[in-house]
Amino acid sequence: MKLFEPITIRDMEVPNRIVYPAFQMNMGLSNRRAQAFYTERAIGGAGLVMGANTAIDNLACEELWGGAEELVGFIQRLRSLTDQVHGAGGKIGLQLWQANRFPIGRGTQVRGEEVDPTSGDRVAPSAREDMRELTIPEIESIIYRFAKGARNVRDANFDCVEIHGAHSYLPCQFTNPELNKRTDTYGGDLQGRMKFGIEIVRAVRAFVGPDFPILFRLGALEKDGAIDPDSVTYAQELEKAGVDCLDISTGGWGRIPVTPPKRHKMGTFVYLAEPIKKAVSIPVITVGRINTPEVAESILEKGQADMVAIGRQLVADPFWPKKVREGRFGEVVACDSCNINCSSAAFERNIPEGSPLCKFNERVGREWELPAPE
Ligand SMILES: Cc1cc2nc3c(=O)[nH]c(=O)nc-3n(C[C@H](O)[C@H](O)[C@H](O)COP(=O)(O)O)c2cc1C
Repeated sequence: MKLFEPITIRDMEVPNRIVYPAFQMNMGLSNRRAQAFYTERAIGGAGLVMGANTAIDNLACEELWGGAEELVGFIQRLRSLTDQVHGAGGKIGLQLWQANRFPIGRGTQVRGEEVDPTSGDRVAPSAREDMRELTIPEIESIIYRFAKGARNVRDANFDCVEIHGAHSYLPCQFTNPELNKRTDTYGGDLQGRMKFGIEIVRAVRAFVGPDFPILFRLGALEKDGAIDPDSVTYAQELEKAGVDCLDISTGGWGRIPVTPPKRHKMGTFVYLAEPIKKAVSIPVITVGRINTPEVAESILEKGQADMVAIGRQLVADPFWPKKVREGRFGEVVACDSCNINCSSAAFERNIPEGSPLCKFNERVGREWELPAPE
C-alpha cells in the first residue's frame, strides 16, 4: 500500500504516510503520562507523531520558567519524549502556537485561563469586540518567539517543528480580510495579509538553520464552498519562504468544524488540500475523518495529498497503522467522531484522574500504567 511507503520531508525520512496530528489533551509533554501516550502512537505505527499545540512562550521565555536554567531543564526533559518516540521507530515534531485569546504567546486553551476580557490584553490583527489591535513591536516580538521557540524544539531533538497557522488562531486571522483591517504593511492586500505568516517562517528558518524541517499548518479560507484562491497563493509563498511541508486544515470559519462530526464525509478536508497539492512541490498533508484504510489509500493513490493525518481515530486505536499493515482490519476499533471525551480534554485542565478520555479506549492517558494490549 502507498500508505506504508516512506517519504522524505527536507532531510527527515518518515517511515510511512501516516501522521498523528497535533491534538491537545492537556497532558503536557515532559511527564511520563504524556510520553507514554505519544510513544504508544509511534509503537502503533504512525510514521510522524506531532506534539500538541504548545504556546511559543513555553519554549521561548525564560521569565515564564523563572530563569534560563529552568527552560533548559524543560528542554532536557523533552529529550526523553523524543528519545522514546525514536526508540519506537517514529519521527516526532512539535506544534508551536500563539493564541490571541490568551496571555500573549503563553496561552493554554483551558476554559477560565483566557485573558481577562476587561484587561485590554486580548489582541488581534485589528481591534474587535474585546480585543485590541497588535502593535508592530508586539508582532515582531511574537515572530521572534516563534523563531526562538523553534530553535529550542530542534535542540530538544524533535525531528521537525510545525507552525500553527490554522483554526482561526492568530496567524490564520492575519490572512482573513474580514478580521485583518490593518492599514500598515501587515494588512491591506493579500501581500500584506500574508506577511505575518511569511515572516514567522523566515525567522524560524533563520533560527533553526537550513536542514531542520519546518511544517506549516495552513488554515485554508473558503469562498462558495471551495478553497479561496488566496490560500493557494499563500501556500506557494510559504513554500518560497522556507516551509518544507504544508499540513492543510480549515481556517475555522468555513461550513465544517475543525473536528468534523460523523455527518461529514471521510477525508473531509481533501477539497482544501488537493488544490494546494497541485500548486506546490513540497509534500502536503490532509486531514479530517480519514478513519479507514480505503479512504486513506485512495487519497494517496489519487495524488490528492502525500500524507494523511489521522487524529481521533488514532486516539481511539493507536494500533490502527500496525493492524492495517498486517491486514488485521477486523481488529480496528473504529472512532465515531463523537467529539465527547477527547474534546473536553482539550478545554478542561482538571479532569478527574482516571476519567475516560475516549469512550472506545480506556488506555488514553493511562498508557503508562495499564498493560499494553497483546
Ligand atoms: C481534542 C482535540 C484536540 C486538538 N488539538 C489540536 C492542536 O493542538 N493543534 C491542531 O492543529 N489541531 C488540533 N486538533 C485538530 C486535529 O489535529 C484534527 O485536525 C481534527 O481532529 C480532524 O482530524 P480527525 O478527524 O482525524 O480527528 C484537535 C482536535 C481535537 C478533537
